[in-house]
Amino acid sequence: MSLRKFKTIAAVAGAAILLSGVAACSQEREPEAQDTEGQGEETAAPEDILVGIAMPTRSLERWNKDGSHLQGLLEEAGYETNLQYADNEVDQQISQLQNMINEGADILVIASIDGTALAPILAEAKAQDITVIAYDRLINETPDVDYYATFDNYRVGQLQGEFIRDALDLENADGPFNLEPFAGSPDDNNAKFFFSGAWDVLLPYVKEGKLVVPSAKSPASNDEWQSIGILGWGSEDAQDEMTNRLNSFYAGGTKLDVVLSPNDSLALGIAQALEGAGYVPGEDWPVLTGQDGDQANVLNIIAGKQSMTVWKDTRLLAERVATMIQQIVNGEEVEVNDNETYDNGVKVVPTFLIDPTVVTADNIEDTLIASGFYTAEDLGL
Ligand code: GAL
Repeated sequence: MSLRKFKTIAAVAGAAILLSGVAACSQEREPEAQDTEGQGEETAAPEDILVGIAMPTRSLERWNKDGSHLQGLLEEAGYETNLQYADNEVDQQISQLQNMINEGADILVIASIDGTALAPILAEAKAQDITVIAYDRLINETPDVDYYATFDNYRVGQLQGEFIRDALDLENADGPFNLEPFAGSPDDNNAKFFFSGAWDVLLPYVKEGKLVVPSAKSPASNDEWQSIGILGWGSEDAQDEMTNRLNSFYAGGTKLDVVLSPNDSLALGIAQALEGAGYVPGEDWPVLTGQDGDQANVLNIIAGKQSMTVWKDTRLLAERVATMIQQIVNGEEVEVNDNETYDNGVKVVPTFLIDPTVVTADNIEDTLIASGFYTAEDLGL
């Protein structure tokens, strides 16, 4: 029996109990054979619940882990699942969601491609009494998203900015240091938070001249983050952009000291551009940030081609969403720890935030390997 059907029966059963209760109050209280249809069940059985899982793409490493881990957890708990990847195509994701609704999904877990494009399809979901959980990326401009589970996105950016501040000792060094900032996909709500967290740390140093941006691609405020965004988080586009900046503004001996990259897929392309321009790890390689702990990037950290990544243990996110689903199915209060930050333009979405972790060459063993996220062999250690 689907969650929706269970909810209907439970409502009818509840009404029946109420009515029989009222009737009983006006009569001798006789033990009555209770209609057990839908009453005896504390919750709908997991096998009667279909969870649609909509992931953005397989081309960015982390989502493969997210999707397979969440599907594994839910199927282990007995739920039915339908996991789909949308090749970063918004229309494809919308039609996948439509199919999930048509096949009777009770809950939708969505890592949106464009968080502003789903209002119509989510209105349909709501009309079918489907619960919607935004996964990692906030879904905006709709009242029909019920919960949000993610890592603390502002903190991710703050950790990147603080790493740069400390790596260059910006508090004490004279500078100036040459910086090239990048931002994530302009259609990704997370990218705004990543950039804001980092730029709140770094912009003061830009303003005082300790950090200089030779390309002039330096947003005057957080609100202008999209001007340096890389659509779809593509490594190749980041590589091309970095190459263009190096060719245009770093000829004749000007050296690049630091690159703010919001995630690992961009950092991978940026590192290839740096290598192509003749930078050498351990000699003149710039400080380079990242996020996600993608395997290729951890290998680059070990090789000195990336300085850090902000690791988000996606297993924790999947486990949190699985817990939310269990609480929803049980009719329990869904546990959240942030009811203020994530205003989606229509409402503040109840959110569960998970803390991210800085990983550098010094703590790979104690974080990524000790937790089993990677084996030593995965990383050539
Ligand atoms: C973001 C996500 C990051 C990131 C990027 C590309 O929304 O939070 O982990 O890597 O997408 O997938």
